[in-house]
Amino acid sequence: MTINDVGGLRTQVDTWRRGGNVAFVPTMGNLHSGHLALVKAARDLADRVVVSIFVNPLQFGAGEDFDNYPRTLERDAGMLEAEGTDLLFAPPVAAMYPKPQDQQTRVEVPGISTLLCGASRPGHFVGVATVVCKLFNMVQPDVAVFGKKDFQQLMVIRRMVEDLAMPVRVVGAETLRESDGLAMSSRNGYLTAEERALAPVLYRVLSGLKKHLVAGSDDFAGLQSKAARELDENGLRTDYVAIRRASDLAEPGPGERELVVLAAAYLGRARLIDNIDFSR
Ligand code: PAJ
Repeated sequence: MTINDVGGLRTQVDTWRRGGNVAFVPTMGNLHSGHLALVKAARDLADRVVVSIFVNPLQFGAGEDFDNYPRTLERDAGMLEAEGTDLLFAPPVAAMYPKPQDQQTRVEVPGISTLLCGASRPGHFVGVATVVCKLFNMVQPDVAVFGKKDFQQLMVIRRMVEDLAMPVRVVGAETLRESDGLAMSSRNGYLTAEERALAPVLYRVLSGLKKHLVAGSDDFAGLQSKAARELDENGLRTDYVAIRRASDLAEPGPGERELVVLAAAYLGRARLIDNIDFSR
């Protein structure tokens, strides 16, 4: 069942919430197996599963790919139905943002929103937190599933839920990859055949970083710059490579055990991101 208006969504979900619990998976559509893995996880967590598809203008910067972001609603709806989704919420922009953008109330999670991807994409995580807050208020789920593929996003959402005492349990799901290691992403479709052949270097370089860190290296600065060089030498244009504390994305001290390695790099029309979190 696909619903486009907030009233219809509330009526349906209210009925379900009386008899059981509801899981929610927000997406921007153009679905791939990574998204469907979140839907599967959601099905295991609740009686009913709601998925949203909304390409959120508020999280795209000027000159980013909002206009060209792939919109494949009919195909997506079929995939979600086959995966046992109970309700697809696909609102038009006017239903989410009836007022001009500069009059829209926003949710800002300070600190972590301005690091890493937030530094290269100013305002991005305010756009993400705002739309997810609004979607949570519309769907009122018991539990929501997000991918670790967007590690920083997951952290921003967790912080928002905690800081604003939202009654939603946030669950993180593992990253699904192609057989050569490339993390699945709607933006992989922007790559030409040659670029697609280069792309797996991102995961290879992160895996190499993890290996050195697990072996005991604390030379974070040296490892980061070597990894960035490797990406650049292999046809990507590095935005950042970072070794961070997994709990809060702060710079780690020597001997820190819970780490995450993250990277973002441009390749043709795409900006690719990936990360690996681990203990050592
Ligand atoms: P989107 O990029 O469509 O991703 C929707 C969800 O799918 C996110 O939680 C993302 O982390 C997860 N995901 C993407 N690729 C994945 C992969 N390879 N393996 C596992 N999970 C993956 O992220 C967004 O949309 C938006 O920012 C949104 C949260 C919907 C707010 O607009």
